[in-house]
Amino acid sequence: MAQNYPTPAWMDTAVFYEVYPQSFQDSNGDGIGDLPGLISRLDYIRSLGANALWINPCFDSPFKDAGYDVRDYRKVAPRYGTNDDLIALFDAAHARGMHVILDLVPGHTSEEHEWFTASKRPERGEFSDRYIWTSTWLDNADGLPFIAGEAEREATYILNFFKSQPALNYGFAHPKLPWQKPALGEEARATADAMVEIMRFWLSRGADGFRVDMADSLVKHDDEGKPATIQTWNYMFDQIRPEFPNAAWVSEWGRPAQSMAAGFDADFYLDWRWGGNPNGYNMLLRNTDDSAVRGVDWSYFNADSGADITGFLGEYLPSLAAVQAVGGSFSLITCNHDTLRLAPRLTERERALAFGFLLTMPGAPFIYYGDEIGMRYRRLPTKEGGYSRTGSRTPMQWDSSPQAGFTTSSEPYLPVDPDASAPTVVSEMARPDSLWNQLATLLKLRAETPAFTTTSAFDVVLAERGNTLFAFTRGEDEGRRLVVVNPGREPHDVGAHGTTQVEYAIGSVSLDGDRVVVGPQSFAVLA
Ligand code: NOJ
Ligand code: CA
Repeated sequence: MAQNYPTPAWMDTAVFYEVYPQSFQDSNGDGIGDLPGLISRLDYIRSLGANALWINPCFDSPFKDAGYDVRDYRKVAPRYGTNDDLIALFDAAHARGMHVILDLVPGHTSEEHEWFTASKRPERGEFSDRYIWTSTWLDNADGLPFIAGEAEREATYILNFFKSQPALNYGFAHPKLPWQKPALGEEARATADAMVEIMRFWLSRGADGFRVDMADSLVKHDDEGKPATIQTWNYMFDQIRPEFPNAAWVSEWGRPAQSMAAGFDADFYLDWRWGGNPNGYNMLLRNTDDSAVRGVDWSYFNADSGADITGFLGEYLPSLAAVQAVGGSFSLITCNHDTLRLAPRLTERERALAFGFLLTMPGAPFIYYGDEIGMRYRRLPTKEGGYSRTGSRTPMQWDSSPQAGFTTSSEPYLPVDPDASAPTVVSEMARPDSLWNQLATLLKLRAETPAFTTTSAFDVVLAERGNTLFAFTRGEDEGRRLVVVNPGREPHDVGAHGTTQVEYAIGSVSLDGDRVVVGPQSFAVLA
C-alpha cells in the first residue's frame, strides 16, 4: 500500500487555468506566445477567479508534439523565454496568491534528447539502458510499438507515443525476454532517479508541482490495476515528496483508484473512451461521435438530448469514493489541449450550465484558456503534431485589435479566429450576462464558500432516470449548499433541503415553500 503524503492545503481552494503557452500572449512580436506575455496576463487570470496555473510543456523541444517531446527538461524553450523568465513567473504568481504547476513528461523524451543520442550509440555507456532496446536489429518489440533501422546500435527501440518519442526505461512488470529489464530494477531505478532530479530542479526554483503526462504508462506490460507502475511512483514520491510538502502532483491517468495508490494528489476525468464506450465525463459533455458538430449528441448538457445524470454518476461515484478515501481529488475540466472545445457544438447557455456544475462539484476544476469567453473549435491543418487537436489551440482572443491582441506579428503561431463576431476578453467582460461574467461571479462565490472547497462533502439529492434535473449538496451543517442543475427543456422540482434562499442562479430557479422549482436550462446555488 502506498504511503499517502498529505495534499498541500492550497489544493483545497485551487481553481486551475490551463495555459497553452504558445497561444496565450506574445510579448516580443515573433508570433509565438511566451512567458513574459503570460506574466503580463496574470492579473487577468486572477480577475476571472482562477488562482492556479497549469502550463503545458515549456521546455526545449523540436516541437514534433507541441513540446511533449522534451529535448532538455532543465531548459525553457528559447521561444518562450529563459529559465529566469519561468522563475519570474513563479514569483509573480506567488505575489498574487497563485500557484503554478508545470507539465512533467516522464514516460518519453524527444528523440533529440542527449540521453537518447547517447543511448543510440553501439558502444555501451551510461545511457545505454535509459530507453528500451531489444537484443538485435531485427527484433520486434513483444507487441509494443517500435522503430527499426534508425540507429547504429544493433537493436530496435520502443516508442511511447509518436515516432519522435522513444519510451524511457522503467522496466517490465514480468520480464520474459533477455532485453526486458525488471520494474524497479537497477536500470529502471536509474531512470526514475533522473526524473526525481528533474522534479527537484524545478521545485527548488519555485514550481508548485506538476501535471504528469501519461502517468500510467511507465512500466511496460504492467498488470491490470498497474501495480508495478504504482510502485514506481511510490519509489519516486518517497524521494521527492518529503522534501517539498507544499508541492502537488496531478496525474493524467483517469483511474483514481490507481493514481491515488501511486501517491498523486489529484487525477483528471478525461475525454477518454474506454473500450469504445463513453466514460462519465463524455456523458456530460462529449457523448457524440463527432465532437465538432452538434449532430447526434447524447450529452447531458445538450438541451436536446433529454439525457439524465445517472450514467455519469454510475461511473463517477466509485472514483469519487476512491479519492475521498485518501484525501485526494478528481478534477473536472472544461476542455484541454487534447480535446475539442465545446463551442460551437454546445450553445452559450448550455456551456454556462455545464461550467456552473463543473465549478460546484468536488475536485479542483480546470478551465482551459479561452473557454471563459467561448472560443470555438475550428477545423485547421495540423501544427506541431496537433492533428484534430490543433483547432483547440488557437491564439487567445483578447480584444478587437489585429490578431486579437495576441501578437503584433502578422504571422501568429496559429491563425486567430477570423470571424468578425468572434468573442474577445474585452467583448465578453463588457456583456453583463456573458459566460465570462457568470463564471467570474460563480468563482467569487466559490472562493467565499467553504462548502465549495475541493474536498468538502458531496451528497446526491436527486438523480433519476428520465429526469434532467440533478440536485446535490456540498458541505455540512449550516454552511451546506444545495446545487440544482437542469439542462433540459422542461421544469422540474426538488425538496429545498433546509435551504431558504437562492444565492446564485442562471435561468429561473425559485423557492416555493419547501420545494425548489428549477426552470428549463437553469442552474442555481441555494443556501
Ligand atoms: C498527453 C498530452 O496531453 C498530449 O498532448 C501528448 O501528445 C501526449 N500525452 C504524449 O505526450
Ligand atoms: Ca514571443
